[in-house]
Amino acid sequence: MMMDRKESPAIQWDGEQLILLDQRLLPLEALYITYSDVEEVGLAIRDMVVRGAPAIGVTAAYGVVLAAKNRLGCSVCGVWRAALEDDLDELAQARPTAINLHWAIERMRALLDTPEKGLVERLTQEAETIHQEDINACKTMGKLGAAYIEEGSGVLTHCNAGALATGGYGTALGVIRAAWAENRLSAVFADETRPWLQGARLTAWELIQDGIPTSLLADGASSWLMKQGKVQWVVVGSDRIAANGDVANKIGTYTAAIAARHHGIKFMVVAPTSTIDRNVATGDEIPIEVREADELFACSNGGRMAAENATGWNPVFDVTPASLVDLIVTERGVVENPTAEKIAALFQ
Ligand code: MRU
Repeated sequence: MMMDRKESPAIQWDGEQLILLDQRLLPLEALYITYSDVEEVGLAIRDMVVRGAPAIGVTAAYGVVLAAKNRLGCSVCGVWRAALEDDLDELAQARPTAINLHWAIERMRALLDTPEKGLVERLTQEAETIHQEDINACKTMGKLGAAYIEEGSGVLTHCNAGALATGGYGTALGVIRAAWAENRLSAVFADETRPWLQGARLTAWELIQDGIPTSLLADGASSWLMKQGKVQWVVVGSDRIAANGDVANKIGTYTAAIAARHHGIKFMVVAPTSTIDRNVATGDEIPIEVREADELFACSNGGRMAAENATGWNPVFDVTPASLVDLIVTERGVVENPTAEKIAALFQ
């Protein structure tokens, strides 16, 4: 199955190979890279060719297909199953915070007892199902979340939680797309999102292509924007939600949530249930990725701009406590003022 590039701009499966849009080059260049090896897929995830929790999960599912094809096709690999399990363990190490990576790999791993003859076909079918389910979930969440946004509202989003970060359509940007289509929005603002600038490079690119005017602001300007009364909702995605509703997302989300509560602005998290990790009780247990400090020292395409010999600290996610979250929108329904009991009820 080859999905339409408009439906799934970041991830394509051509029946044999995985094709990823290199998001590091956007918006200046739209370069597609073809993958036939699971190790390279793991590097693509680690190095941010593809990013965003649901997109990482979908990519990993196709990575498992490639791993199975290569291990089964290798005549000297008598012990293909053990080697394949090692590939999956390795792939799961690519990034630590986005739980969708582990969720997708475990869903694929559960099929490894399929008879050898039909295994690759079965895994391919499952990866395509995961991909399509994610797009469907985004569209459902878009409608559910948009219904909460009063007509004439301004919204602020952080990072990129759009078609590029998911199987397609987007989580937070899915809500913004749906709300825009229903004429509910007066303005859309996007934090630029240091240091990778997902807001400036990806969110603005996606929304403007859809004819949705988008104003960028420096991350530090968001509380001042709220003070002006220009936004009524902050709408973000998530990389992992703990069983009690604490939300890990791109660094700076916590700051936006604190500022939103201070200004009486509502805070909405949009994420499929594959992002909820019921094995972690609270956000304190979520591993937070800390990347190279070098990422802080330069603008994306330029040379070093930081003072020589300055050191850095580069945590790329933070955790917003459930007490600051007004809504968690999932494809199974909306949780208002999340608690452990309400999150558990989603799975019953
Ligand atoms: O480091 P990234 O670009 O992978 O971080 C992405 C985010 O934090 C997104 O907001 C999150 O994954 C939700 S994507 C639908």
